[in-house]
Amino acid sequence: MKIAPSLLSADFSRISQEIAVVERAGADYLHLDVMDGRFVPNITWGPKIIGDLRKLSPLCFDAHLMIVEPERYVDDFRKAGADIITFHYEATYHVQRLLTHIRSLGAKAGISLNPSTPVAMLEDVIGDCDLVLIMSVNPGFGGQAYIPNSLKKIREARALIDALNPSCELEIDGGIGRKNIREVVEAGVDVIVMGSSIFGAADAGAELRELRALAEPAGAIA
Ligand code: DX5
Ligand code: ZN
Repeated sequence: MKIAPSLLSADFSRISQEIAVVERAGADYLHLDVMDGRFVPNITWGPKIIGDLRKLSPLCFDAHLMIVEPERYVDDFRKAGADIITFHYEATYHVQRLLTHIRSLGAKAGISLNPSTPVAMLEDVIGDCDLVLIMSVNPGFGGQAYIPNSLKKIREARALIDALNPSCELEIDGGIGRKNIREVVEAGVDVIVMGSSIFGAADAGAELRELRALAEPAGAIA
């Protein structure tokens, strides 16, 4: 099980310390939410900021593009240092072309689904994916409430991945914390994105360790 702290909820006035804390606590990926004010009603950052953050950490950079026409920008995000580039199924016409293009750049290719998009839409492209990201909130903001129907979607995505592309990772994003981390792991996720539950804690590093203990089988027994 991998944990991907989302920097959306970090304090950017002290971003190097925020990154160092989660890195020391064993974060697997750094999740970087790119928002354009069009695909989602919020704006964050682009390739320049990701390129600057790249100098601060060797962690795997997991870029989540919540932007329209992602095909216009994936080369820039790759050059900036993104290791995984995930775009939204709903944001482009030519999903298979873009997955293939991202892989040709030497990055891992991810596809994300909004809460209202069925997992079945991935059947014909799952072989071209390195990661599937199920949104368990409507994308745009940190700190939103988890949508319970996501559990069904995780199970469906797990079954699809196991049947057709077992090396593809399954990631969940939105509203995950102490109260539901165990159930999403049991439903079959490989990677858990968490923003507010990690960076909203008084000690982000201690919270990350606690969340991992709750998520992994040893934690369930304790
Ligand atoms: C939301 C973003 C998330 C966000 C999750 O649109 O994609 O990555 O940071 O934040 P929490 O964990 O607070 O729901
Ligand atoms: Zn995200």
